Amino acid sequence: LASTEVDLAPIKDGQSITVVWRGKPVFVRRRTADEISQAKTDDAGALVDPQKDADRVQKPEWLVLVGVCTHLGCVPLGNKVGEAKGDFGGWFCPCHGSHYDTSGRIRKGPAPRNLEVPTYTFLNDTSIRIG
Ligand code: FES
Repeated sequence: LASTEVDLAPIKDGQSITVVWRGKPVFVRRRTADEISQAKTDDAGALVDPQKDADRVQKPEWLVLVGVCTHLGCVPLGNKVGEAKGDFGGWFCPCHGSHYDTSGRIRKGPAPRNLEVPTYTFLNDTSIRIG
């Protein structure tokens, strides 16, 4: 499918889901207030691929990312309860140890770029269309 609609209503605070878009996993995370404030604080941190959190989201609560590590394409962990989130509280790629922060930015490990933000549109307050 060229585009995928996602119902955001069932996603709870601090929860992430994975949907498939054009054969790739896409992570949709409803960030907690702490995660949002951490992402903003990290704007001033040591960023490998500098980008402001505000430039990676349309609404701070919702983070939408292509769930493909920018190193060699593994799917990072961190979406499921209890999975490793890495040293920066976002996602961790177990293939070669890349750590992503609460904005999906690469912070440590071999990956060269932040997790990609796909094109998406809010259809209303509780749904988005990816693609
Ligand atoms: Fe993710 Fe290598 S593929 S660290």
